[in-house]
Amino acid sequence: MKNKLTIALVLFFILTPFLRAQNAPDRPFKEWTKGMEWFKNAKLGIFIHWGLYSVKGISESWSMYHKRISFEDYMAQAEGFTAKNYDPKAWAKLFKEAGAKYAVLTAKHHDGFALWRTKLSNMNVVEKSPAKRDLVALYSDALREEGLKVGLYFSLCDWSHPDYKPVVFPRKGIVNAPYPTDDYPREGQERLSPWERFVMFYQGQLKELMQNYNPDLLWFDGDWEHSAEEWRAKELRAMLKNANRDVILNSRLRGYGDYKTPEQGVPVTKPDGPWEFCMTINDSWGWQPNDTNFKSSYQIIRTFVECLGMGGNLLLDVGPREDGTIPEPEVRRLKDLGGWIKKHEEAVYSTVAGLPWGHFYGPTTLSPDSQTIYLYVLNNPKEFVALKGLHNKIKKIRAVGGNKELKWKISGGAPWNNIPGVVLITVPKEELDPFVTVLAVEIEGKVKLYRAPGQAVKLND
Ligand code: GLC
Repeated sequence: MKNKLTIALVLFFILTPFLRAQNAPDRPFKEWTKGMEWFKNAKLGIFIHWGLYSVKGISESWSMYHKRISFEDYMAQAEGFTAKNYDPKAWAKLFKEAGAKYAVLTAKHHDGFALWRTKLSNMNVVEKSPAKRDLVALYSDALREEGLKVGLYFSLCDWSHPDYKPVVFPRKGIVNAPYPTDDYPREGQERLSPWERFVMFYQGQLKELMQNYNPDLLWFDGDWEHSAEEWRAKELRAMLKNANRDVILNSRLRGYGDYKTPEQGVPVTKPDGPWEFCMTINDSWGWQPNDTNFKSSYQIIRTFVECLGMGGNLLLDVGPREDGTIPEPEVRRLKDLGGWIKKHEEAVYSTVAGLPWGHFYGPTTLSPDSQTIYLYVLNNPKEFVALKGLHNKIKKIRAVGGNKELKWKISGGAPWNNIPGVVLITVPKEELDPFVTVLAVEIEGKVKLYRAPGQAVKLND
């Protein structure tokens, strides 16, 4: 008995720190969130960077930070922010046509200017700009009407708030800015430290967003300036999940998010866990008329299928002008992407990450039952398309979106010794898609792969 007690005590002391470490937030957070179900099958979201910077067409918040424009001139853009042609229903229709299942709008960027009617500061579109309307309310209603999920981007750092002092980078551009103290009512909070006031403020704004619009997704940014403890990230996560237990949070919450957000460089190896790759359509997040370096529709579709192949989503960014219109080159690209997705729908939404590298020179995905392999042919083939190391019998191969069976043969291999040959597929010209051709390889049973480095054939004919 005594022995058992001693063992229990020893185990308790050995295991406690380990268990604590297990409970420490991972990246992303491991707790099950129902909202992740729709997210995993969504595959495409549209990111919208819209704010004061869309008036002069300068870089979002950073132009002020890097002193390319003074704080006053940056904020004066509010007078030109009209949103006069803002038609969120048309946005929602366009995003749906693009094949997106959700969108993420910059409700507040690092500059602190809110696109909704926040009661916690005057730094918002209703108080300061001729737009005068709650743009977030109109956006979330319109998206829901089209059956799209509502995402809101929220910058944790706020470079206008008098109580906010960036830590990691010096506040170069705005160090001497005349803080718009009048814009941030702080009566009754004099006894609190500036940081406590700021935490109350930013968490208060998030409560407003939850109460007013009940977003499906919150997309944080700017967490790098403070630690999880300083942001009170754990408490914030609990507060948000309390307000809506299905709301999903991106990873930029110092480890308290639900999924990862690689940015601008498409991942080369498959990230662990759920993820979404965000990318600009040209080189800028917001509207910048001098930036005409648009990615081609082919490049966008190619990147999209690279994400699919690794089981991730693409969050493709657009930058509307101050009046709310989305520039034509961006619209065209969204429509091309949507046209491609529509034709290849079965190889998009319900797919999961595909074969490990080495079987096919391009991205692949699998159907949920693992009995169809989708091959994304990025370049028009010479002679044939090859698939290596497949043990399963092939039932049929076809080009997705067409209705023809394709010819194929198996070359080499020694199946009696468990060595599969190479599948060589002939794709006639008329089956090639102008962007990315997708081949569906239907097999018997769940996919079984040969992953060995090769071996001698023991028994030949
Ligand atoms: C970066 C930038 C920000 C942009 C964001 C989008 O973190 O700071 O301006 O909104 O990326 O992912």
